[in-house]
Amino acid sequence: MIKLNYRNTASAIVGEENGLDLAMEFLEYNDVIKNIISDLNQCKDKPGQWLQWMNLGYSEETVWYVKEFASMVRGIFDNILILGIGGSALGGIAVTEALLKPYWNYLSKEQRNNYPRIFFLDNIDPDSIKGLLDVLDLKKTLVNVITKSGSTAETMSQYMIIKDLMQKELGDDYRKNIVATTDQRVGVLRQLADQEGYKTFVVPDDVGGRFSVFSAVGLVPFALLGLDIDKIMSGIKDMDLALKNTDINENIAAQGALINYLMDKKLGKNISVLMPYSSRLKYVSDWYVQLWAESLGKEINKNGEKVNVGPTPVGALGATDQHSQIQLYNEGPNNKLITFIRVENFDTTLEIPKIFEYTGIGYLGGKTINDLINAEADSTRVALADYNRPTMTILIEKVDEYNIAQLMYMLEVQTAIAGALYNIDAFNQPGVEQAKNYTYALMGRAGYEDSAQALKSKLVTV
Ligand code: PA5
Repeated sequence: MIKLNYRNTASAIVGEENGLDLAMEFLEYNDVIKNIISDLNQCKDKPGQWLQWMNLGYSEETVWYVKEFASMVRGIFDNILILGIGGSALGGIAVTEALLKPYWNYLSKEQRNNYPRIFFLDNIDPDSIKGLLDVLDLKKTLVNVITKSGSTAETMSQYMIIKDLMQKELGDDYRKNIVATTDQRVGVLRQLADQEGYKTFVVPDDVGGRFSVFSAVGLVPFALLGLDIDKIMSGIKDMDLALKNTDINENIAAQGALINYLMDKKLGKNISVLMPYSSRLKYVSDWYVQLWAESLGKEINKNGEKVNVGPTPVGALGATDQHSQIQLYNEGPNNKLITFIRVENFDTTLEIPKIFEYTGIGYLGGKTINDLINAEADSTRVALADYNRPTMTILIEKVDEYNIAQLMYMLEVQTAIAGALYNIDAFNQPGVEQAKNYTYALMGRAGYEDSAQALKSKLVTV
């Protein structure tokens, strides 16, 4: 099981102004946390609560269906191309970057054991879309269009471009090269997929995009790439069981949520940095940033009061960002809580050769890069404590299917608990809608004529 070390958030280490009396806080919030965890578990099956992501570890039917599809198309495609944005892409990127052999797309087919390359198009930069299309052989590419709403402009415009090209290149056979992952019943993509006869997968009801990584949204690409989705399921289930514990002293998601919340509310530390010391976990930070930002950044609380809450999430990477962000974290405003992720065992042990012995770099010879990265994690943590900067560390034994699932599921539960502490709805995103509507208006979508009118006058002044 992954662990959380929160010692360096204690006032005994970083001082009263910057740290918490955790024994007292845990006692004071004991009942609040107990109620939050009980509520989450009791409400998870109720429609409209958006908590179905808590059941994804148990969806054996989906796992079976996904595996069957993966074995059916095994060896047929050289490339998987995912079209999706936000929650439809970030989880997939995080997991594949963590679990596939580094530089996967550069490996030969044999080195990839005949599994395909993977590409995510999660933006609408025309140059990068064209660039990707120039290097992909669409005949040998399986495109997976992922959108829960089925109408997201970024994803659907990419789909329209690629569908058109595929049809031109492949004739009627193009349908075999497209799958759609979307809502079971509603949305434009659902309608089109049914009309066109694409293979489809379902984003289950009451699972929001940023909580969907362990639904078919992630499982389909993971299985197509040969990742062990049974181990992913075990990781989620074991973590889910551990996080059902209502005792804050035993529940790391509750501890992480409460510490983040108190750091913000009591001590004004409203920036939450996630800094893994592992390149393979770099994109877990990107995923976390979206999860934390869209879930917790809210104007109105559950009582309808205007609160404008939400800590600002920041992604960082150790050791790289020691040479970029750490100067600010040590000496700049003391307004952050930094959470490190430390990997105990890497797949590779890389020795530094004993050359240049009698020079200033001689001390490195004979050590391993593994020693170096963890020494840097330790020294950064201690240096930050010297500057009275609070930090926590998530400890992972190794980066594999089981542990990555535990880590990401734990962060999802932590987010849900934090949402309850802030007394906001962690599962909606009303703040994204306004710009979306303006885009529809600018692009001439029917029904948005009024917005278009309002927008035209504002564009001159804003
Ligand atoms: O977390 C979310 O709900 C969002 O980030 C969505 O995933 C994102 O807006 C894409 O939406 P959709 O899956 O409907 O295309």
